[in-house]
Amino acid sequence: MSSILSLLQLKGRQAEAVTARDVNLSVTAGAGSGKTRTLVGRYLALLAEGLPLRSLVAITFTEKAAREMRSRIRRYVEELMAERQDSNLWESAFAELDAARIGTIHSLCAAILRAHPAEAAIDPGFEVLEEGMAAVLRAQALDNALVWATTDPDVARLFALLKEHELRRVLNTLLNRRLDAVPAFAALSDDPLAVWSARLAAWLDERLTAQNWRDSLETLASLQARNPHDKLELARRQVLAHWDEVETARAGGDPQTLFASLTALRSATYIGGAKGNWDTGELIAAREAMTMLRAHYDAEIAPLVSKNKPVSWALDQQAAEALPHLRRLFEHTLAEYEQLKEARRALDFDDLEARAVALLENNADVRARWQSEIHAVLVDEFQDTNERQRRIVYALTGFSTPPQPSSCQGEG
Ligand SMILES: Nc1ncnc2c1ncn2[C@@H]1O[C@H](COP(=O)(O)OP(=O)(O)OP(=O)(O)O)[C@@H](O)[C@H]1O
Ligand SMILES: [Mg+2]
Repeated sequence: MSSILSLLQLKGRQAEAVTARDVNLSVTAGAGSGKTRTLVGRYLALLAEGLPLRSLVAITFTEKAAREMRSRIRRYVEELMAERQDSNLWESAFAELDAARIGTIHSLCAAILRAHPAEAAIDPGFEVLEEGMAAVLRAQALDNALVWATTDPDVARLFALLKEHELRRVLNTLLNRRLDAVPAFAALSDDPLAVWSARLAAWLDERLTAQNWRDSLETLASLQARNPHDKLELARRQVLAHWDEVETARAGGDPQTLFASLTALRSATYIGGAKGNWDTGELIAAREAMTMLRAHYDAEIAPLVSKNKPVSWALDQQAAEALPHLRRLFEHTLAEYEQLKEARRALDFDDLEARAVALLENNADVRARWQSEIHAVLVDEFQDTNERQRRIVYALTGFSTPPQPSSCQGEG
């Protein structure tokens, strides 16, 4: 151990992260501070303790990073061989290094799937579709689907709503995130507009019935300037008039007027007024009420209903009408893409992740086999993993309480 720490010049917290055992460890530190180096140190330290090379998994973010890590480890192993302590151990590690499990999460998924073709119900000779090739197939699927779209009158209306390149962009985004898009479309209501307006109404109800908002409006209603032409007095009457419109629109379920009246109410708030036009106490109370309305609006309502730009419900209506057609077009595009992949017997990165997660989580025998084979999973750049990738790591290590780290090493 000490030779590894001195070889890699790891001290202090870096050394601690290399030597700690029987813990799920996460390392969080600034860019370029030595996290990857520490991970390499831990990998070597576990080897030095006699763990089989194939029981250690190191996950890097890219193939290039994996090659670099492998060659760094090779150099260190050579130096450790030269030190002539435990030389058998280092010589056999050196001989086996090509078979080391150092790679991307996708190469690990592919290895897991190829080891269990029957359980995973896949052709073990599948090709892994690299991102570049996957993008080519997705573009081809999109071309085919857009040609089909022109032949379907409902779907073709999407071209009028969005420009072709915009439609392409939307579909491409959906395809790139199909594992999220598929369940999202499946959960889509038949009447999305009704769902949205109900959610909106509930959201606004909470804000428009807040005590400070109601109190401020009541205060304004109870005051009056001596001079009806005072600017604050005019603003007071406008705010109250817009509030009436808001209440009417809420009762009538008319989001377009509701948005417009709310924005107008916020624009009408005014904190000024001439002393000579008011009783002193009333002037102060009116200004306070206006200030309160503004603060509440800006903090609570403006995130959804802009305080100065009108918000268009008509766009939501258009979107709601277009969504079922977009769903059909997306399903068609997806089917084209799946066909293109099948023709090559290829799985893309999403397929690899989704199938590996399903295999490990649903098949206890497979999971047990990997857990008994794998002693440690070291993940570089853990902060960039997605939920599925983390679930794969948890299934392999058998731990269920996820750390919240920036770089993580899990041992099971
Ligand atoms: N204890 C150390 N002694 C000598 N050099 C070190 C030490 N720790 C880190 N370095 C060097 O600092 C550089 C950055 O290290 P490393 O790549 O491990 O950092 P990192 O935290 O993984 O960076 P990133 O945030 O970019 O992933 C490397 O050249 C590494 O060799
Ligand atoms: Mg790094």
